[in-house]
Amino acid sequence: YHGPIVHSLSLDELEYAVDALVCVSPDGIINWIERNVDTSEIQDRAASHGLILDGTNNAVEIVQLGGHEFLCPGLIDTHTHAPQYPNLGLGQEYQLLDWLSNVTFPREAMFSDSTYATAVYEEVVKRTLAVGVTTASYYASLHESASKILAETTLRAGQRALIGKCNMDRNCPPEYREPSAKDSIEATRALISHVRAICPAGGPTAPLVQPCVTPRFALSCTSELMASLGELVAEDPSLHLQTHLSENTAEIKETLDLFPDCESYTAVYDKYGMLRKGTILAHCVWLSPAEMTVISDRHAGISHCPTSNFNLMSGGARVGAMLDEGIEVGLGSDCGGGFAIGILSQIRDASKLSKMIALNASTSEPSKKRKYSDKPLSIPALFHMATLGGASICNLKDRIGNFEAGKEFDALRVTPGASPGFFLDVGEDTTATSGSKSRQERVEVLKRNFERFLFVSDDRDIADVWVQGRRVAGSRS
Ligand code: GUN
Ligand code: ZN
Repeated sequence: YHGPIVHSLSLDELEYAVDALVCVSPDGIINWIERNVDTSEIQDRAASHGLILDGTNNAVEIVQLGGHEFLCPGLIDTHTHAPQYPNLGLGQEYQLLDWLSNVTFPREAMFSDSTYATAVYEEVVKRTLAVGVTTASYYASLHESASKILAETTLRAGQRALIGKCNMDRNCPPEYREPSAKDSIEATRALISHVRAICPAGGPTAPLVQPCVTPRFALSCTSELMASLGELVAEDPSLHLQTHLSENTAEIKETLDLFPDCESYTAVYDKYGMLRKGTILAHCVWLSPAEMTVISDRHAGISHCPTSNFNLMSGGARVGAMLDEGIEVGLGSDCGGGFAIGILSQIRDASKLSKMIALNASTSEPSKKRKYSDKPLSIPALFHMATLGGASICNLKDRIGNFEAGKEFDALRVTPGASPGFFLDVGEDTTATSGSKSRQERVEVLKRNFERFLFVSDDRDIADVWVQGRRVAGSRS
């Protein structure tokens, strides 16, 4: 691939490189990247890596980006509920616990029907890929069969995914509840085996689809189930785990009533050994500073779900404080608590929320470490959460999240202009990113277009979506 790239280096830094040359191997791994390569130099630079481009090597395809196009890493949705997509936009009048009873559980119960699950999951995966979600950490329903179908669907479509079957054996209606902790564990083990069988480890790339242990939240799990799930993950340090934490004040109160020996909601998961690297904690709206310290010490990650937190009136999560605590943070659409598909919307809502928090912050509060707390999130921080931070909390940071040699090529080709909001300035639209402009001038154009992509674009501007080097979606026909 030859052209401009934008990717995250850290919370504070994006790299904007024009004239990059990215070499991707047939198995989807980025072999090497060169910067500042003019078109006339491509052949020589490739040859310096032993790749001969003399026109006879048909195995090599050179993709030349033109005009205002650029590549960026695929977006990572670190928390979403596949069976809730048919509910998008519905049930906005409720807060969490009533919403679960009235809107969510009845919908998820429908996934006992595998035909229905197949049809819905097909659409969910197709639509999330189209909006640039190359990796998704999915909650399925509690059903083993439908959860297997979701894993098979993502694998077939080529979306990288973590798949969890909900564990829930209490505080839910009899028709949508697992009969016992034992049943829940058996079904979970069966799903783990199935996912690992259809997508085994051991190749040059990470398994595209991986299982994720998914205690729905502490309220929906008996102590017996929590203890068994804790044992299950203790057996295998590589297992992913996802759950909800500290989303809504009524939820927190009920949780503390059910686990009276725990001093905080965070302590409940800690008690059962669930806080560790590879654990994704969704929401975390009401964490105390002490809870944040525990999460940081355990190297668990947080999925920030701002659209959902606004929509269900859960509250505004203090992302800046989490980052100051050294916690890795990703973004989650939390569909259908949230009503927006994909991660561009989460970037926008995370930005707006951080500005509201900054406006309301008391400036007199003394603090030792306040680099991010009570400040608007910067563009590099927002895109970090959407990519590299998300990869980190999914325990996939050594494989994806940015463009580094040795990582896998999960990428988007953005072709600005098709969505109505992506408004190039008068004169800009006739100025291609190559030609008479200096590199520095072209970097400035790229920066503007990248910012527009984050804030006003939609799937019409996402021309190609690649996962592990394979084109899996995109608006370009
Ligand atoms: N807590 C427990 N289950 C859910 C769910 O499905 N969505 C959200 N947002 N929070 C939850
Ligand atoms: Zn959720």
